[in-house]
Amino acid sequence: MPSRRRFLAASAAATIAPWMPGRALARTPVLRIAAARQQLVGAAHPATDVWAYEGRVPGPELRFKQGERLRVEVQNALEAETTVHWHGIRLPNAMDGVPHLTQEPIAARGGRFTYEFDLPDAGTYWYHPHLGSPEQVGRGLYGALIVEEREPPQVDRDVVWVLSDWRLDREARIVPDFMNFMDASHAGRIGNTVTVNGAIREKFAVRAGERIRLRLINASNARIYRLRFENHEPQLIAFDGQPVAPAAAGRVVLGPAQRADIILDCRNTAGTRHRVIDDFYEQRAYRLLDLAYANEGPLRTAFPPAPRLPSNPAPVANLAAAERHQIVFGGGMMGNMPGGMTGGERRMIWTVNGKATAEHDHGHAPLLTFSRGRSYVLELVNDTAWHHPIHLHGHVFQALGGRQAGTSGDTVLIDPRTRAEIAFVADNPGDWMLHCHVLEHQASGMMATVRVA
Ligand code: C2O
Ligand code: CU
Repeated sequence: MPSRRRFLAASAAATIAPWMPGRALARTPVLRIAAARQQLVGAAHPATDVWAYEGRVPGPELRFKQGERLRVEVQNALEAETTVHWHGIRLPNAMDGVPHLTQEPIAARGGRFTYEFDLPDAGTYWYHPHLGSPEQVGRGLYGALIVEEREPPQVDRDVVWVLSDWRLDREARIVPDFMNFMDASHAGRIGNTVTVNGAIREKFAVRAGERIRLRLINASNARIYRLRFENHEPQLIAFDGQPVAPAAAGRVVLGPAQRADIILDCRNTAGTRHRVIDDFYEQRAYRLLDLAYANEGPLRTAFPPAPRLPSNPAPVANLAAAERHQIVFGGGMMGNMPGGMTGGERRMIWTVNGKATAEHDHGHAPLLTFSRGRSYVLELVNDTAWHHPIHLHGHVFQALGGRQAGTSGDTVLIDPRTRAEIAFVADNPGDWMLHCHVLEHQASGMMATVRVA
């Protein structure tokens, strides 16, 4: 198995302190955005200049209970404007964090914005900027947003792995070639260094007999993961935050922005090690880390069945009454790139129904207008030679076809030259983004607005 370019084994794994704004706090909790330095690749190499929420990558793990209200003041100390988008949350449109569409950008060098909204659905979500995303996410701006069930299932540990990748040079500096034409017109910016919770990890320590709820978040600009847990049989219990009937997860495929909750039962013996392998790009498979069993007796020897999570209150589409639309995603290398993509600063490469939309074009006429309360089925056609994880804001949809058929969520990964169908109730008023979550594709045309009125 060819192994990933590994600068050095990270030894002492930095732990992420939970950041739990108490309900009784008088002051609004602050999420400060600034440049920072972080040891991504091990102590023998220099630290990397990153952009970070609260000084670290990933940003603080925000944990709430279902039904609670999130309130946070974002303070932007960057030299760039930004916004924060709360990926997958069904929230009021004005809190969605889309620049020029739902809010003005949060100004560079001192801008502030307070986000406040209820958290209707339990699950694994995340937050990230929605402005200049290829660079802002590529430099480290993202964090987990966990909404716990009112009665969470019994597990020994509830752990988040934020998966991301970086394009680093030999001095562990970020290569600043964001939005180069090669990346934008092909698979997006795929890095050369994969981190789990902000560092290369040699191992993840477990104990024999332990039951772990592992929440996987793909926060990469463009990389797709396919994780295999050697000698383990993880059970999938939720996808994109939404519960599924527990079933063998097999290889866990996660496109950019997608999440999976798995139950990892540690059935091997004390002192053993087992690889977690990512082989989505088969010629470039690598070992993500080892599950390292402590030299302790087992916590238990028999495991109950994986828990079934209570369903969320997100509405389910009425397929018989649904109105249908087709949306075609086009463009890219080896495809029908729109004219005018060569030269110039704002190259448009990708299209939605034949039209390329730039980030600064927000406020353009919506692609579709939905009647509030009505059910819709969208047939999403990938007419390109590339993968596209297509994300709809403000709603939870049911995936009817494609590789995610049978699950609900907010992002659907569509393989080259295939199609998927999503169904949802357009119950959340406002203008919402529908876009590819390969951030370089999004920023070079593959996005649109849909209106719920
Ligand atoms: Cu996670 Cu419009 O994005
Ligand atoms: Cu795409």
